[in-house]
Amino acid sequence: MPGTKPIPATSGVFTDGRQAPKSIKVSKLNHYFGEGELRKQALYDNNLEVKRGEIVIMTGPSGSGKTTLLTLIGTLRTVQEGSLKVLGQELHGATRDDVVRLRRELGFIFQAHNLFESLTAYQNVNMAAELAGMDRKVANDRIEYLLARLGLGHRIHYKPKSLSGGQKQRVAIARGLVHQPKLVLADEPTAALDEKSGREVVTLFQELARDEGCTIVMVTHDNRILDVADRIVNMVDGRIRSDVAVHETSVICEFLRQFPLFADLQTSTLSEVADKMMVEDAEPGDVVIRQGDPGELFYLIRSGHVDVIVEHDGDKKKVAELGEGQYFGEAALLRDEPRNATIVARSKCVFYTLGKADFKDVLARSKSFVEELRTVLASRT
Ligand SMILES: Nc1ncnc2c1ncn2[C@@H]1O[C@H](COP(=O)(O)OP(=O)(O)OP(=O)(O)O)[C@@H](O)[C@H]1O
Ligand SMILES: [Mg+2]
Repeated sequence: MPGTKPIPATSGVFTDGRQAPKSIKVSKLNHYFGEGELRKQALYDNNLEVKRGEIVIMTGPSGSGKTTLLTLIGTLRTVQEGSLKVLGQELHGATRDDVVRLRRELGFIFQAHNLFESLTAYQNVNMAAELAGMDRKVANDRIEYLLARLGLGHRIHYKPKSLSGGQKQRVAIARGLVHQPKLVLADEPTAALDEKSGREVVTLFQELARDEGCTIVMVTHDNRILDVADRIVNMVDGRIRSDVAVHETSVICEFLRQFPLFADLQTSTLSEVADKMMVEDAEPGDVVIRQGDPGELFYLIRSGHVDVIVEHDGDKKKVAELGEGQYFGEAALLRDEPRNATIVARSKCVFYTLGKADFKDVLARSKSFVEELRTVLASRT
C-alpha cells in the first residue's frame, strides 16, 4: 500500500505528514442566533484550516455567515457547537482569562470604525498600542510608519471630523495593526477606499504576512484585491462551499498543463481539477494498485517511477515502466472494470490522484482528454 494516507493536494500538509503551523482550525462549527422558536442557524458544520502567514479572503453573498465566522474566530462571540482553535487556543469552553490573553494577539479591522472623535489619528492608534502595553518608543515609530504607509503622514494630528470616510478607515486599519498582531481579522477593510488606497492596504497586509508571519483573514466583495489571497474561502448559506489554496492550486495547474492530457482544459476547469486532487506517496516496492481490485482512483505521477505488471495464468510480466507526468488507473474507471494491472513503485513516488466521479467529470469536459486516453488505452491493450 502507498506509504501515507491520501491528503488533499492543496491542503498544506506535507506528504510525510508534517503540517505547516496552523493559526486557525475550525472543526464542525455550528452557530445559532435567537432563542426558542426564533432560533435560527447561521453556520452549518464548517471546517477550515489557516496556516501561519497566510492571507485568506472570505467571499460570499450577504447573509452567508462571513461576519459571524470572523467574529467567532475573533472571540467576539462565544462558540456554541464544534471546535475552534485560534493560535493554539481552543475557544469552545475557553475561560475569560484565555480569551483576554488571546485577544492581545489579534488585530481587528471592522466596518464600523468607532474612532474616538476627541482624539487625533495618532492618539486613536496610540490607544490600541497602550492597551497592548507596547513600549512608548516602539509604538511611536510604528504608528508613524503605519500612518505614513497608509497615506496619512500629513494628517497624523487630525481628528476624525476632519478626515474623509476613507481616511478614517485607514486610521482604523493602523489601529488594528499597531501592536503587531499575530492574526488580523478584517471585515471589508477596503470597502470605503478608492482603488489606489485599497491597493496600498492590501500591499501592507502582504508585507506584514511576509515580514512578520502575520496571518490575515479578510472578508471582501472587492474583486480587485483577490490576487493577494493565498486562499479564497467562499461561503453560501452558512456553509463554506469552496476553499481554494490559490498558490498550491496554481502550482498543480502548471504541472498538469505540461501534459497533453490536460492541455486543452480551461484554467478554471484545471484549477477545479487541481483542487479535487489528493496527494499520495509510495516507498520502493509498495503496491499502489493491484490487478483484480475495483478501481476508484486515477493516478498521475508527480515524481518517481512505477512498474506496470500484468498477471496472466499465474505468470507475472512487467509490461511497462512509467515516470513523471505519466498516469495509470484510468482503464478501470472508464470501463467500470477491475484493475487490469498491478502497479508497483520502483522508487520513492508522489502521485496526484483523482476520484472516479471527478475523473469522469473532467472527461466530459475535455475533447483532448478523451482522445488522448483512447490512444493510450489502445496502445496498452
Ligand atoms: N446578531 C444577530 N442576531 C440574529 N441574527 C443574526 C445576527 N447576526 C447575523 N445574523 C444572521 O446570521 C446570518 C449570517 O449573517 P452575517 O452577518 O454573518 O452575514 P455576512 O455574510 O457577514 O453578510 P454581509 O455580506 O451582508 O455582511 C444572516 O442570516 C443574519 O441575518
Ligand atoms: Mg458581514
